[in-house]
Amino acid sequence: MSAVRIAPSILSADFAKLGDEVAMLERAGADWIHVDVMDGRFVPNLTFGAKVIETVRARTTLPLDVHLMVVEPERYFDDFAAAGASGLTIHAEVSPHLHRQLVRIRELGLRAGVALSPSTPLSAVEDVLAELDLLLVMSVNPGFGGQKFIARSVDRLSRARRMLDAAQSGAALEVDGGINRDTIVECWRAGADTFVAGNAVFSARDPAAEIAALRARCAHRA
Ligand code: DX5
Ligand code: ZN
Repeated sequence: MSAVRIAPSILSADFAKLGDEVAMLERAGADWIHVDVMDGRFVPNLTFGAKVIETVRARTTLPLDVHLMVVEPERYFDDFAAAGASGLTIHAEVSPHLHRQLVRIRELGLRAGVALSPSTPLSAVEDVLAELDLLLVMSVNPGFGGQKFIARSVDRLSRARRMLDAAQSGAALEVDGGINRDTIVECWRAGADTFVAGNAVFSARDPAAEIAALRARCAHRA
């Protein structure tokens, strides 16, 4: 059985005590810390950049899974690598030279990821599977935490799983948006192995119990 990774998104954290929140997530059993970078251009929202990634890096040894919701993401690769990112995931919708960018991310020694918004065909990554370490299937339209899971994402994950398996790819299959105790089950069955959860973890009274509960929901494939 493949491993399950729970990657809480700090988008839902209290930014006034971000360092403590990150340390809390590590104690609570998170596998990765998901870092949502937004530029107010690719998505309407604005979040943070390299300085904050550095701050987060200083408070945890967990991998930092950086999700770039920005136009021209390549402008930030060097800074984010230096700040301590472990993986960079760029959106296919804003990356006409996807192959080049993925090669570059790997050259920096980082996990190279591509994210697909809900309306982007999976075929957008079909010809770069050899360069891919992570495929992120968005299950909400990127931009905000706390949105409702788009049900069709389950079918997209199944098809993504088949595409990766057919290419004998070892890439992680990550799902992001509206993941909670209910929605995670179908995503797991569809073949996802890495689950971003913002609201579900941070609105829980006991984040450690919530992370454990999310993980437990993935115990069996149907
Ligand atoms: C949305 C972000 C997500 C978001 C997930 O654009 O990429 O990572 O924070 O948050 P929830 O789990 O609340 O949908
Ligand atoms: Zn994200």
